[in-house]
Amino acid sequence: MDERGWWRRGVVYQIYPRSFQDTNGDGIGDLPGIERRLDYVADLGVDAIWISPFYPSPMADFGYDVADYCGVDPIFGTLQDFDRLLGAAHARGLKVIVDFVPNHTSEAHPWFVESRASRESAKRDWYVWRDPAPDGGPPNNWLSVFGGGAWEFDPATGQYFLHSYLKQQPDLNWRNPEVEAAVFEALRFWLDRGVDGFRMDVLWMLVKDEQFRDNPPNPDWRPGMLPHLRFHPAFSTDRPETMAIVRRMRALLDSYPGERVLIGEIYLPIRRLVAYYGEAGDGCHMPFNFKLIQAVWEPREIDALVRRYEGALPDGAWPNWVMANHDNPRIAAKVGPEAARAAAVLLLTLRGTPTLYYGDELGMENVPIPPERVVDPWEKNEPGQGLGRDPERTPMPWNDGRNAGFTEGEPWLPLGPEELNVAAQARDPDSMLNLYRRLLKLRRAEPALHSGAWVPLGVHGEVLTYAREAADGRRLTVAINFADRPGEARLDGEIVLCTDRAREGERVSGTLRLKANEAVIVR
Ligand code: NOJ
Ligand code: CA
Repeated sequence: MDERGWWRRGVVYQIYPRSFQDTNGDGIGDLPGIERRLDYVADLGVDAIWISPFYPSPMADFGYDVADYCGVDPIFGTLQDFDRLLGAAHARGLKVIVDFVPNHTSEAHPWFVESRASRESAKRDWYVWRDPAPDGGPPNNWLSVFGGGAWEFDPATGQYFLHSYLKQQPDLNWRNPEVEAAVFEALRFWLDRGVDGFRMDVLWMLVKDEQFRDNPPNPDWRPGMLPHLRFHPAFSTDRPETMAIVRRMRALLDSYPGERVLIGEIYLPIRRLVAYYGEAGDGCHMPFNFKLIQAVWEPREIDALVRRYEGALPDGAWPNWVMANHDNPRIAAKVGPEAARAAAVLLLTLRGTPTLYYGDELGMENVPIPPERVVDPWEKNEPGQGLGRDPERTPMPWNDGRNAGFTEGEPWLPLGPEELNVAAQARDPDSMLNLYRRLLKLRRAEPALHSGAWVPLGVHGEVLTYAREAADGRRLTVAINFADRPGEARLDGEIVLCTDRAREGERVSGTLRLKANEAVIVR
């Protein structure tokens, strides 16, 4: 197979390693567990796995607080386990993308330990240290995403350090070239081992305002929105200097053989998001597009969103779509279990690379977490506001055995309903799992779906329609009924895929009647 452009044609599957498969009975998923389940992943029909952080970490933020960029936490296994996993994935034609966290380290990282030791430390300037304000308070009004102020006072040295997330996650100072050199060395460590790319954590936050100006109040903020967005993070995020760093990251990846892909985690409005492709296409291959996560499940809103996004893409920029991840509700929780099947059709038939979140292919729901089992630091900091991420991070259910086959021990988070599991769905041709498998197979087989144009056909009633058209003119039309009642679309052809499998093969002429929440692909 031609490897060029694999990330354009392909589908990415996100694995949260704590929750995929445990192999040693400690109740926490691990790298050997991912290796054990690779056949499942390959059979699903995806092309790449992205693994959330597995580096040595005190786990204050479950691995997004990295204490060593070039190792594997013993909870997850060893470097040898990683190499074996990488080889086993490659042997099945699966690419491996690793998560990388350049904005901050753990407070336990030796760099920070040294930085904190004294004002004269050689690494003092590797982090963002500032003197107190004249009244002794924090240097400015910046807020932490996880609640409270973004500055922590260090009594031993009399200065504050910046933490955009937890105080156990001090921000690196990307204005210091030594930081870039050290982080790039860590990137080379993984590139040399053969990883196929990086998902870069909070890429839009790397650089901070040189003058540390206060963020202005956000006039659009309303209760229910993320608490830290009370202030518009104009001076603490998305600074113009960031792109130069992104371009150098990209150049580093491009200096390696094969196409090593740079994916950026970027929560910004479309206009700013697309800037991260780089003016000359020399930035991210894919700045993650989270707009489907933020959108309401409503056909006019989705139609307008796709048009806006498609229209904003710079020349040559390749689109991508994400509907869920480890920081956001599961698809079934967002749109409801009935519409989740239609949502799968949408996600896998838009133009651009989709990223799937493990378990969504089963229709996993957010699992209610009893208060005494809450572990997410965000929920602990700001309880009861629906910010906690434990519900979407629960273990993958493999079968109807003990703990759903996830672990022999006590699972780190509770499991969802017993009847929802891979084995049961594999047996049922009408299951969500088999819908995803059919969709992924069709997408791989049809150039119209994996690389064709997106042609909007509008919204009629509550039914969204669009076509995907290959370079040779071959066309597939998609119709999605967003309503809980029947709807209609004007269409001719043969149903090649439907959320209701029984309809596949049906001929349509003129009018297609759709059941509640039904979606079809017609040739
Ligand atoms: C984004 C990650 O996806 C999230 O899980 C994490 O808590 C923050 N970045 C901080 O690294
Ligand atoms: Ca384990």
